[in-house]
Amino acid sequence: MRIESIKLKNYKVFQDIELNDLPDLAIFVGANGVGKTTLFDAFGFLSDCLKNNVRQALSKRGGFKEVISRGHQKEMIEIELQFKLIIAGKNRLVTYRLEIGEENGRPFIQREILRYKRGAYGSPYHFLDFSLGTGYAITNEEDFDQPDEKLAREEQKLGSPDILAIKGLGQFEKFKAASAFRSFIENWHVSDFHISDARPSREAGYAEHLNQTGENLSLVAQYIFENHRQLFEEILKKMKQRVPGIKNVVAESTVDGRIVLRFQDGSFKDPFIANYVSDGTIKMFAYLILLNDPSPHPLLCIEEPENQLYPSILIELLEEFRLYAKKGGQVFVSSHSPDLLNGARPEEVYWLVKKEGYSKIERASDHPGIRELYAEGDKLGYLWKENYFIGSNPQ
Ligand SMILES: Nc1ncnc2c1ncn2[C@@H]1O[C@H](COP(=O)(O)OP(=O)(O)OP(=O)(O)O)[C@@H](O)[C@H]1O
Ligand SMILES: [Mg+2]
Repeated sequence: MRIESIKLKNYKVFQDIELNDLPDLAIFVGANGVGKTTLFDAFGFLSDCLKNNVRQALSKRGGFKEVISRGHQKEMIEIELQFKLIIAGKNRLVTYRLEIGEENGRPFIQREILRYKRGAYGSPYHFLDFSLGTGYAITNEEDFDQPDEKLAREEQKLGSPDILAIKGLGQFEKFKAASAFRSFIENWHVSDFHISDARPSREAGYAEHLNQTGENLSLVAQYIFENHRQLFEEILKKMKQRVPGIKNVVAESTVDGRIVLRFQDGSFKDPFIANYVSDGTIKMFAYLILLNDPSPHPLLCIEEPENQLYPSILIELLEEFRLYAKKGGQVFVSSHSPDLLNGARPEEVYWLVKKEGYSKIERASDHPGIRELYAEGDKLGYLWKENYFIGSNPQ
């Protein structure tokens, strides 16, 4: 499953945006405060809504008044995502739509819909349709040859008007699109790696996936070493190519029951523990662990991967993102680095521009001038610095 399009209305700095035909790897650039993190947070918001309810997801972000675009308090927050999913043997474009309002300090779901077309013709059919805590879902959605009136509706009353219908229904296999979408959102991941969090040793434990800040790096390294040895060897091979001197990395248990990462430099007998190797060494190792995850996230959002890394390595890192996307996970990246963009293609690059308080998003490949210069050999990082991404550089 992958995201085809995103529509946001009144979600913070995005008063009204639409991204269509999203690629496997999308890189978002733009000045500070234009909304790169906010775009990723739209997925975090949905995931928090699923974990608890809409009220708690809003509270975590300062409440409805902070989330709704300034000056649009009387309107609804609208989130619409489209994704492709194989249903009854065909790849179908499914739309999930959510509208959230607030009255007397209480948030409510005005509408939640999951729809897709049953045949080549006709308008999309609502397989799930809820408003203010009541609605229906179709229980035999895969019976495509049935006429509309034969589709079985299950009427439902949710516990409260701020609970997502996909939260409950998505647990059941029979609601195919709802459960696929639910699991997509649940397994979405953002990586905002903090070197200082990843360095120290960790109490022994178990972790298969690197967490948001990378603080469980030593545990995940140990997991991959013990359960996916071949993969670990490949990670080491890439480490050696990219960080001069590195010969080996091991995750070791200490006598006091902690796991510590040790980096072996080829020139010295004793390895360095993670506290004493360079920032870039830790970061490169963390990215290799993140990107070689044996079970990739369906959507991985990475914040500013360029910090601490040597410019020429960034091009290889981009290639690594593309490989990750091929294994099944879409990758969205935020960046301030022209060096990173120098390895990117026009259809992968978006820039954000803020005007009168709200942001719009442009795609490099939608601009014929940029496409032509790229075809002639100009690199996108260079074109960005030369102000071809109109409005993206601070004045
Ligand atoms: N309710 C709202 N309505 C309008 N704008 C908002 C609202 N809430 C936050 N903002 C604005 O949205 C922006 C959020 O920026 P965000 O953190 O997403 O930027 P960024 O592109 O990730 O920046 P950086 O490069 O510094 O990380 C801020 O400029 C903030 O003022
Ligand atoms: Mg940001």
